[in-house]
Amino acid sequence: MRHFLDIHSTDAGDLRGILDQAKSMKDARAGRPRGAEDDTRALAGRMVALLFEKPSTRTRVSFDVGTRQLGGRTIVLSGSEIQLGHGETIADTARVLSRYVDLVMIRTFEEESLLELARHATVPVINGLTNRTHPCQVMADVMTFEEHRGPISGKRVAWAGDGNNVCASFLHAAGQFGFEVVVTGPEDLIPEAEFVKLARAKGASVELSSDPVKAVRGADLVVTDAWISMHDSPAIKESRRRQLQPYQVNAELMAHAKSDALFMHCLPAHRGEEATDEVLDGPNSVVFDEAENRLHVQKAIMRWCLDL
Ligand code: CP
Ligand code: NVA
Repeated sequence: MRHFLDIHSTDAGDLRGILDQAKSMKDARAGRPRGAEDDTRALAGRMVALLFEKPSTRTRVSFDVGTRQLGGRTIVLSGSEIQLGHGETIADTARVLSRYVDLVMIRTFEEESLLELARHATVPVINGLTNRTHPCQVMADVMTFEEHRGPISGKRVAWAGDGNNVCASFLHAAGQFGFEVVVTGPEDLIPEAEFVKLARAKGASVELSSDPVKAVRGADLVVTDAWISMHDSPAIKESRRRQLQPYQVNAELMAHAKSDALFMHCLPAHRGEEATDEVLDGPNSVVFDEAENRLHVQKAIMRWCLDL
């Protein structure tokens, strides 16, 4: 049984296999209605539980639609609908769900909740975002980069702003796919040392810089995300805004990257904060391709988990 918990803990060859399968499933669907099932019907007869302790548009819809395209069925549970954190242990929840469904995807707060679920489940568990990482997103991002620019290996990726969960998964991916990362942001918002160490241990070059212009110089890809994540207190909004304004991705900053540098954002975007409309809607933005590729890559992740 295989869980998909993180990019760094998944075999690099398997990650490449997931991307290849995602691409071939995407190509095979060209021109078909969204609701049409894939010829493989790889998840026929399978039930997938989608658990959300935080809001979601992309993760929820893409996993639900992806499961149905593969001929499977879903049960979506969110917030107060589930007993998680209301007295029942995560271990018991894992044991119970394993009697009903074939696969569990969870979006939660603490990484430990995900890990505990995986430890006690007898069916595969997929990480749909925790406070620390967002691996499905970054798999879609690597797929998107390669669709537009070819192999990501050896490329320079500049992350601007909060060194958050999505940034952490980029660092994991840097180690596995062999690209360079430069993170630019205020010193107290740089990613946890463990993520940097892991990427470097796998041979990736990681730079940390408080100078956004220097950081994006020579970048093949510029990425940002919300200044405040779902696990952050809304009370810090104003201080974050002041702190992160210099790292806003606008046309002026993009002009310092390579002329064909792509721009990514996992969405939802706070237009005019971490990125301007000009960049989000500009010719180098691939934000909606990233969103679409969540669907294809997660279908491949579910198939990998179940060896189908
Ligand atoms: N990017 C992403 O995970 O979006 P949602 O929060 O809408 O799922
Ligand atoms: N960093 C964001 C990503 C949302 C998809 C958050 O955790 O809220």
